[in-house]
Amino acid sequence: MIEVDSTFAFDDVLGRGRGIQLAELTRLTSEAFGAVERVRAAHARGGLAWLGLPERMDLAEEVAAWRASSPPFDDVLLFGIGGSALAALLFGALAPRGPVGPRLHLIETVDPSRLSFLLQTCRAERTLVVGVSKSGTTLETAATFLIAEAWMERALGARAKERIAIICDEEENPLRARATRKGYVAFPVPSGVGGRFSALCAVGLLPAALLGLDPREPLRGARLAAERCLLPDLAKNPALALALTHHLAAQAGRNVTVLWPYGEALRPLGPWWVQLVGESLGKIGPHGAVGVSPLAASGPADQHSLLQLLLEGPDDKLTVFMGAASSGASDPLVPPGGEELTPVGGKTLGQILRAEQEATAFAVARAGRPVVTVTLVDSGPAALGAALLTFEVMVALWGELLGINAFDQPAVAFGKKAALARLLGQPLDLVREMDAARARPRRLAR
Ligand code: PA5
Repeated sequence: MIEVDSTFAFDDVLGRGRGIQLAELTRLTSEAFGAVERVRAAHARGGLAWLGLPERMDLAEEVAAWRASSPPFDDVLLFGIGGSALAALLFGALAPRGPVGPRLHLIETVDPSRLSFLLQTCRAERTLVVGVSKSGTTLETAATFLIAEAWMERALGARAKERIAIICDEEENPLRARATRKGYVAFPVPSGVGGRFSALCAVGLLPAALLGLDPREPLRGARLAAERCLLPDLAKNPALALALTHHLAAQAGRNVTVLWPYGEALRPLGPWWVQLVGESLGKIGPHGAVGVSPLAASGPADQHSLLQLLLEGPDDKLTVFMGAASSGASDPLVPPGGEELTPVGGKTLGQILRAEQEATAFAVARAGRPVVTVTLVDSGPAALGAALLTFEVMVALWGELLGINAFDQPAVAFGKKAALARLLGQPLDLVREMDAARARPRRLAR
């Protein structure tokens, strides 16, 4: 379902001193097998709940059942941020879209214009409101959800509760308590599953189901991937291959990792990857700060943008190209007769897309910069599930190699605290610290 090709990451192909040397790979492989063993053992102890999600078909059944009995709707207003939002984007890109049919609106901002516009244009009696927050108390999500809830209640009174759903930690939490009090359906994020690792529970599966996808499919794909991703075998384990390639490239100064998917269905993997890699691995390690800077590209658009930087800018990047072997969609042909515009008459758009991906990967490698290509069997929900699980295990293994905890996010937690402090004036010590920092402004431009 997923294949990793690291040909263009190696020294003998890229040129001496430019890529990974086979000897380095061999040296690190036994350490990496140790990382696989530690992840496998932690999973066996029940310590990695996210890795158990492919086995939780009950979670998919639960959302499928609610979808089957949900009231009719045209619009879904989904409130969430970070890991609680990006999964919806992933599945949203896979869902068949047309001029009619459900529209998913993701509200991950407190910009007043966005929500005001949506509440003016959506009809409450044809809308579902979904609040997604693992903690239940994230500022942006809670504030916007409460506004939409009040809008729904004003329009529909006691019937509002039929159109409101929440997804949050399965343990006691304020959002769950509110849902119980108000009579909303509540879906769980299993305990121990962090935001950016939650795409394979209701956080991703409910939006998928609401948009007409079978929520069981991502779990089926992820289950197949999980089996391979825990094998101590570099040739069979895509997560291990990716973790090792990245780790070695980073050690050689490639401090930026670019994910460059081709095809609209895979496009939201870019921002999801940025969060997964950035928030999981950007940590204080045993010997100081570690992590790489993730960057999201999109094909073919970034051939007309970031490609310049990748070919001739600083040689500090490893680029992961990603595509699907088949799209399953109908594939229009460029009609002959327009040769004065382009010589590609008679080719299909899918052929052009695949050729562009291959050619661009070659161009980056030709410039002596390492490239990895990840190919999915297709761009359906099962293959996406396999890709998500593979990248998650890759990050877990890479975290092991770096000696850090890939599953916490103390800096993000501090950001949440600082935002509330600025707004509410509490806690006082933090507010004083912020005020002191602003006391001596250096305004360079006025
Ligand atoms: O990965 C994470 O933990 C974060 O990015 C969270 O997803 C984000 O902060 C939203 O948190 P919550 O789901 O608790 O609202």
